[in-house]
Amino acid sequence: MKISILTLFPEMFQGPFDFSIIKHAQQKNLVQIAYTNIRDFGIGKHQLVDDTAYGGGVGMVMRVDVLHKAIEHAKDQSVPDKKRRIVLLSAQGKPFDQKTAREYAQLQQLVLICGHYEGVDERVKKYIDEEISIGDFVTTGGELPAMIITDALTRLLPGVLKDEATLHESFSQTGTDLNTVLLEYPQYTKPQVYDEQDVPEILLSGNHKKIAQWRDEQSNIRTLKIRPDLLSKKITD
Ligand SMILES: C[S@@+](CC[C@H](N)C(=O)[O-])C[C@H]1O[C@@H](n2cnc3c(N)ncnc32)[C@H](O)[C@@H]1O
Repeated sequence: MKISILTLFPEMFQGPFDFSIIKHAQQKNLVQIAYTNIRDFGIGKHQLVDDTAYGGGVGMVMRVDVLHKAIEHAKDQSVPDKKRRIVLLSAQGKPFDQKTAREYAQLQQLVLICGHYEGVDERVKKYIDEEISIGDFVTTGGELPAMIITDALTRLLPGVLKDEATLHESFSQTGTDLNTVLLEYPQYTKPQVYDEQDVPEILLSGNHKKIAQWRDEQSNIRTLKIRPDLLSKKITD
């Protein structure tokens, strides 16, 4: 899969993608992460990418003509349109979640557009498929949101992790009706006792059926306690 990131600051991605799972996924060519510097499509000698807002107000707005050229440049022509998604990162977008990460992991190309300043000219919407938000807060630019989305979907790509690793984790786990989104059960490792806290007896029993039952119960209990909203959400929603 190819993830193409349109940004004014490609250097920001050095570091976060140079470690651990994302680094290995790139080395094994399971994901290709490409950068398009929006500045390369800027206007005139100074390669301007933004301008003041019509109607006035503070802050600069990124130009639609510049962004349109950068989007066209980033499109991999060998990828059919239905296997590509062009996503504008925006605080006003649809909330990103594990289901969206799974959807994106099926694509051949994901184009992520990082806004900056006051945001982007509204008319860019003609050239994108959707707007995505990583939460109800405003970040300085789309770069950190793009990193989060890239990370969340790369670990779902075939061959990146063992299938088991992503099957039973939070937001992917199926409840007893095999269709509910739950939080993962509690995890423990050595030492067996720490500061008067014991590992639950059942996990030491070796009885895998009972352990699976206990974990299922614990997932349900903690989801009900911490995120009851998830219980009304089906994995197919
Ligand atoms: C400072 S923000 C602009 C915020 C905009 N004026 C508003 O009120 O919605 C600059 C850029 O950061 C990115 N951004 C900010 N918050 C985001 C979020 N929650 N999710 C995704 N992208 C975000 C977007 O690309 C946005 O264009």
